[in-house]
Amino acid sequence: MKEFKEKVVVITGGNSGIGKAIATHFNKNGAKIAIFGRHEASLKQTSGALQQSIYVQGDVKKHSDLQNLFTQTEQTFGKVDILIANAGIVKKCHVADANESLFDEIVDTNYKGVYFTVQTSLPHIKDGASIVLISSIAPLIGTYHSSIYASSKAAVTCLAKNFSADLLDRNIRVNSLSPGYTQTPILTKGRNVTDAILDKKRAQIPAKRFAEPAEIAKAAAFLCSEGASYIMGSDLVIDGGVSNIHPIRNET
Ligand SMILES: NC(=O)c1ccc[n+]([C@@H]2O[C@H](COP(=O)([O-])OP(=O)(O)OC[C@H]3O[C@@H](n4cnc5c(N)ncnc54)[C@H](OP(=O)(O)O)[C@@H]3O)[C@@H](O)[C@H]2O)c1
Repeated sequence: MKEFKEKVVVITGGNSGIGKAIATHFNKNGAKIAIFGRHEASLKQTSGALQQSIYVQGDVKKHSDLQNLFTQTEQTFGKVDILIANAGIVKKCHVADANESLFDEIVDTNYKGVYFTVQTSLPHIKDGASIVLISSIAPLIGTYHSSIYASSKAAVTCLAKNFSADLLDRNIRVNSLSPGYTQTPILTKGRNVTDAILDKKRAQIPAKRFAEPAEIAKAAAFLCSEGASYIMGSDLVIDGGVSNIHPIRNET
């Protein structure tokens, strides 16, 4: 028996990296999938490789696009059982060099985008549903050039707790999931990141490797499963030890 048989799962940013791995995992386990993102070619390619799947092209920054996602999903598959608010961007900048347009782009995508993804889903999602917000370990420790990104993700982790409170009456569990470095296009997209830089990062991770997107997908599925029925408003960190294990090995 497939764990998510006939469940309707919506994944924003389901056309790349972590979101694509989540879509694939749920689909292998019997779910019907709706994915959403800006780039039609990768949406089409990802959706075409799945069974019982649709894609909706759009931008999480636009309310009408989000409305279209949930209307089309409900028309095709019925009301939503699981929502994964995963779409996000990384842009790095020193605080002294940041400008309002960069701030707005990151915050409007990562924070406001998640907020209105969940709000727009509410008339289309079942009572008893499960929602997972993809956050990050970035808010857990100050990092060079990460002030806007990290604070946008701190907001996402915070939203899981506050949405949970608001949605208790509908028995909808909301949790966040905070990946560490995960092998996806976001690690290099739009930035000059060499293999040497990536190797150096890998060496500093206690697990000595980046996460595979499939490892994050299994954790997202766990949060939506029966086994997680008493988990609500929590943040699940999956980072190969980065935020919990001291980098200096103290031999004495
Ligand atoms: N990889 C990591 O190391 C890591 C670590 C911590 C947290 N995360 C978080 O994990 C999530 C997924 O990232 P990823 O690593 O899988 O990166 P990715 O491969 O670059 O995927 C990002 C996804 O978000 C979508 N997206 C971005 N902006 C969007 C917008 N305005 N509207 C709709 N969709 C949008 C992209 O689709 P389109 O480009 O087609 O719009 C893409 O599908 C992000 O929220 C990221 O912050 C990643």
